[in-house]
Amino acid sequence: MKKDVRKVVIAGNWKMNMTPSEAVKAVKETAALTAGKNGCDVVLCVPFVDIAVAVEAAKGTNVKIGAQNVHFEAKGAFTGEISASMLLEAGAEYVIIGHSERRQYFGETDETVNKRTKAALAAGLKVILCLGEVLEERQAGITAEIVSMQTKLDLADISAEDLKNVIIAYEPVWAIGTGLTATPDQAEEVCAIIRNVVCGLYGCEAAEGLTIQYGGSMNEGNAAELLSKVNVDGGLIGGASLVPEKFAKIVDAAQA
Ligand code: PGA
Repeated sequence: MKKDVRKVVIAGNWKMNMTPSEAVKAVKETAALTAGKNGCDVVLCVPFVDIAVAVEAAKGTNVKIGAQNVHFEAKGAFTGEISASMLLEAGAEYVIIGHSERRQYFGETDETVNKRTKAALAAGLKVILCLGEVLEERQAGITAEIVSMQTKLDLADISAEDLKNVIIAYEPVWAIGTGLTATPDQAEEVCAIIRNVVCGLYGCEAAEGLTIQYGGSMNEGNAAELLSKVNVDGGLIGGASLVPEKFAKIVDAAQA
């Protein structure tokens, strides 16, 4: 099966950028620039405090709003955390889970990624599940082992039905925010490995339907070539998503 059996999703990850008023402006600009571009889904994953105003600004447009993390418990004494039902009520449709910055700076593990993913899916959110190797792992030649293990651990006990609401974002950690991009062939190779692991877990039909994004310094200059690869079904974009004109050009590249 070919790429056209899968949904292409271009998602922005704003990280810790944009105040609520800046968010409203950026969402409106992004929506205007991507209007009618129906060849892919367009998502902006924004800071928690921006969600409600971003959802309002995106109403009636093709931009969907997501969060950047979620806690796995439903409620309780977890100071500073946000639950899936809070995100849903604020209007978020998507949530990024397991971003390498969460893994690197905030103690996220495959176990907590799995718990968050299960909680988010149970609540009805769509999950953008991030995984990828660090530079030392790539240099040691163990990228395939690392991403295979992460895929298995992060998806543990998630049903085939729930998998339909999961997007996997392959993000080589060495390419994030560094200006270093995986070559299209490197991205394709690892996205294919991930799809193969999912085929082993859920069957190949489910794997063929899974959207797998590439993330890591994707920009308006390299997006078309990356997205032309058969196993690369979209992008998770950090820096370039903060500039609506740049992000819209990546959306354009996904229309082919
Ligand atoms: P970048 O970030 O596009 O700035 O490299 C990607 C990401 O962290 O999702």
